[in-house]
Amino acid sequence: MSPYYPPVMISEEQIQNRVAELGEEITRDYADVDELVIVGILKGSFLFMADLARRVSVPRIMEFMALSAYKGTQRDGAVRMIMDMRLDIQDRHVLIVEDIIDTGDTLTYLLENLQARHPASLASCALVKKERENPLDIDVEYVGFEIPDVWAVGYGLDYRERFRALSYIGHMDPEAVDF
Ligand code: IMP
Ligand code: MG
Repeated sequence: MSPYYPPVMISEEQIQNRVAELGEEITRDYADVDELVIVGILKGSFLFMADLARRVSVPRIMEFMALSAYKGTQRDGAVRMIMDMRLDIQDRHVLIVEDIIDTGDTLTYLLENLQARHPASLASCALVKKERENPLDIDVEYVGFEIPDVWAVGYGLDYRERFRALSYIGHMDPEAVDF
């Protein structure tokens, strides 16, 4: 069977240009901070995190958390923490790095969970945000791209664990594959 390549929605070049811009913005905003804790949310943020962290030039340390709420393209209930980070973030400046914001449930959970640890500041950065009829009432300080409500894959995003390693973001048509 020949491999299926989802049609391109956001090209590798567009992603890399935007990630560079986000990195500059974050570097400017945190210029006066002695250290920034960048928290990547696994698995979806792994490529974005790797690229973004290299485009930020304030002193920074990296942590990871793993969360899950989906099976395939269907939500299977509440957000679950699968792996916590190691660091105690009390009095530290924290930036959450997420792959994609859809309903906002995952980010809402994260913001509550991390705020309770009393960081010095807490902000979030998402590569992609889905346009929704009812806008979310959470603030996302840094957003890479807004896309319509379709299933996106690639650059960390999966459909049933596939396509995460693509360098671009594509539009998944579940009818086109048999897994
Ligand atoms: P939310 O909690 O509804 O905002 O969903 C956030 C999480 O759902 C993301 O971190 C992704 O893991 C997953 N997700 C939502 N939409 C997509 C998509 O279009 N493609 C791949 N994963 C998605
Ligand atoms: Mg995810």
